[in-house]
Amino acid sequence: MELRVRRSCHSRIEKEEIVETEQSQGLTTRRSFVVRGLVAGAAAIAAGQWFADGSPAFAAGESGSLPAGDAAILRFLSAAEILETDLWQQYNELGGIQDKEVPGGSGNPQYTKALKVLDGDMDQYIHDNTEDEFTHFTFINAYLVSRGAKPVNLDRFRTLPSSKATGAQQIGRLTNLMKLTVDTSWFTRYRSRTKSPDLGHGFPQAIPGLSKGKFPAIPRSDADLHPAKHLQAIANTAGFHFAFIEQGGTSLYPSLAQRVTNPEVLRILLSIGPTETMHFQTWQDKAGNAPPLTDPTNGLVFPDLNKPPHGGEDFQTNLIMPEPTVFLSRKFPVCSIIRPTNTHGAAMGALKALTADGLFIGQPPAFFATLTQLAHAADAA
Ligand SMILES: [Fe+2]
Ligand SMILES: [Fe+2]
Repeated sequence: MELRVRRSCHSRIEKEEIVETEQSQGLTTRRSFVVRGLVAGAAAIAAGQWFADGSPAFAAGESGSLPAGDAAILRFLSAAEILETDLWQQYNELGGIQDKEVPGGSGNPQYTKALKVLDGDMDQYIHDNTEDEFTHFTFINAYLVSRGAKPVNLDRFRTLPSSKATGAQQIGRLTNLMKLTVDTSWFTRYRSRTKSPDLGHGFPQAIPGLSKGKFPAIPRSDADLHPAKHLQAIANTAGFHFAFIEQGGTSLYPSLAQRVTNPEVLRILLSIGPTETMHFQTWQDKAGNAPPLTDPTNGLVFPDLNKPPHGGEDFQTNLIMPEPTVFLSRKFPVCSIIRPTNTHGAAMGALKALTADGLFIGQPPAFFATLTQLAHAADAA
């Protein structure tokens, strides 16, 4: 493949571009080799543009100076991060630390106390996870704008009701935390030594009751603060939901990273993705501390995962690091890995999982159309 390099006046940028060439050539031949220089110093922008075939380097329209596929992937991730931020903000208003870093709510002492049964630092972790999500979408949108690409804004869909419980802001929301159907198979997926979702295997639910029906993960009103086991079931639901959300990000970033072409966009995905993994790791540990109980109001059961018929490697609560499992093919030795990381249809898969979670109950068809469009564009990259 012949590459033409437009001369850059900035030596540091030239060096970065050479590195990009070497990395790119080893990866895939369908790459467009569209690279733009980095901002150097106060305002100096040196744009180094590489052409694979002499055609115009940059697609016009929504993607600005980014390869169209990279922009589509960043836009889908921005949307996912906006949705994550919206749900984490609701958790923080009621169960996190209230401060200027994550403003909005005023806290709900009873809910916060129930969450702390899972870990004494839950309010701090909820706060920090919320702040991280704010920075993820804000950064990705700012980066898109800096490259002349279209950012994502979902404000027109902020119409879902807030919790009426003490501590919550009364504003329109993007996500619904009051009718969740939480897939808890991530718990057994990361504890299995013999199966992988990328090889088509399914995994049992850790909390079967949560994967059927609709349950609140935040108090819907102060009426949900009693009886104590009902409130604890809500906090337990949140504990498993936190990990469900963050294992999604843990897989989404490496899945989509396989299809970006610009090394700087790859760097963004490789730098944000592992923070989702740090979140997931934390929440996986805390979910394992959810006390066994039955919610007296609706019969939802949180079993003791360390006792028969549970227990063993698929359920043991202190196995919070990924058990090694089959990766790529059974001909290789098992490996401790993030799973799934299959790139095909990853964006639509994430959207379907969030939809099945009940997060978007109450959103209009236009919301799903917008998200589906963003996901399809990302998966076409
Ligand atoms: Fe995030
Ligand atoms: Fe996250």
